[in-house]
Amino acid sequence: MNLLITNIGQLVTVSSGGTNVKTGPAMRDLGVIEHSAVRIVDGRIERIGSTDELSRQHPDTIDVLDADGRIALPGFVDAHTHACFTGSRDHEFALRSQGASYQEIADQGGGILNTMKSVRASSRKDLKRATDRHLDAMLRHGTTTVEIKTGYGLSMESEITMLDAIQDVGKEHFVDVTPTFMPAHAIPPEFKNDRAGYVRLIIEKMIPYVGRRNLAHYCDVFCEAGYFSIEETREILLCAKNSGMQIKMHAEELSDTGSTELAVELGAVSVDHLEHVSERGIKALRSSQTVAVLLPGVSFFLNHSYAPARKLIDAGVPVAIASDFNPGSCMSFSMPMMMTIACTHMGMTPEEAITASTVNAAAAIGMSDRVGSIEVGKKADIVLFDVPNYRFIPYFFGVNHVWRVIKNGTILEF
Ligand code: NIG
Ligand code: FE
Repeated sequence: MNLLITNIGQLVTVSSGGTNVKTGPAMRDLGVIEHSAVRIVDGRIERIGSTDELSRQHPDTIDVLDADGRIALPGFVDAHTHACFTGSRDHEFALRSQGASYQEIADQGGGILNTMKSVRASSRKDLKRATDRHLDAMLRHGTTTVEIKTGYGLSMESEITMLDAIQDVGKEHFVDVTPTFMPAHAIPPEFKNDRAGYVRLIIEKMIPYVGRRNLAHYCDVFCEAGYFSIEETREILLCAKNSGMQIKMHAEELSDTGSTELAVELGAVSVDHLEHVSERGIKALRSSQTVAVLLPGVSFFLNHSYAPARKLIDAGVPVAIASDFNPGSCMSFSMPMMMTIACTHMGMTPEEAITASTVNAAAAIGMSDRVGSIEVGKKADIVLFDVPNYRFIPYFFGVNHVWRVIKNGTILEF
């Protein structure tokens, strides 16, 4: 199948010149080509050129999409989500609107444990259906690759049901799905007085099972006071590495715990959140390959402090942004909305926000050789926006300007 997209007003390639991430000033270089065209063959980008040139050289192309001056970006990569969930926490949202904090609600048995109840009562099919619906909506907002974590089952049976559902979605949905195993998201109620028992269950039963069946690429831990300590996190993630998984971490979300240094020490592919990262943490990240995944929507939705994006980028750390879509701390999966918050509250430029949502986000899930930029040989995941130039994507907020989504070379119908 061939497709020619013509008359693209700006082709925002976000090309990385062969490197897997962009850092420092390179994050501002989007490799924009004005007035161009892209030829797609068998789901891959085959050529980039002018409309005249490509139309002349390939007069036989049957499928032509005239972009009529619209703006093309690589499909967004959402490198951190909890998109597999059922139920809702709108009641907690209402409580928060009246001054209750995320922590207070969690301490009273709400929060993650609230969603756990509904996930435990859901079948593999229910979870697949709910996740499918989330991914349908994410696609409509321009996201073509999504990482999805478990962490609402918190028992052997229910965590595996979540992974099975995520795998099912990945096989059938247009969106590319990367599964992450995260049983260490909270201590379930039956282990309330025996946290060591839950850590043992994760290490002795859950991780070996997932590793043997190759059900997840990554293992993640919520390393935070009241959740999992540095020692517990180290033990769990070392076990995951030994079982063939790569690692990620929820670090420094509510306080400075030193978890960033641990993530670097363990060779994590990404370290996520970093709202309270210390100077030591930033220094550790500078000399590592670990991608910092910042989650602007969480700080916005919980009215918490923001991660020091400007400092991290200026220090040369590869920075990505993701939605963290989940029913408690970020009820949004709009990557353009995340970009707006990154620009208005975190000191990022529109160019940096775009790089952070595409090629650097792909690097945070080890996929920047395939997705995240519009370059010859990569998957043809391209989103066309009905705006005058690429800056309008973060400039507008709460408005969806996606005109067409091309996934693996196919124009999707919504
Ligand atoms: O990334 N920090 C831990 N986990 C999620 C919140 C999950 C939830 O509240 O359901 C987060 O913010
Ligand atoms: Fe998260």
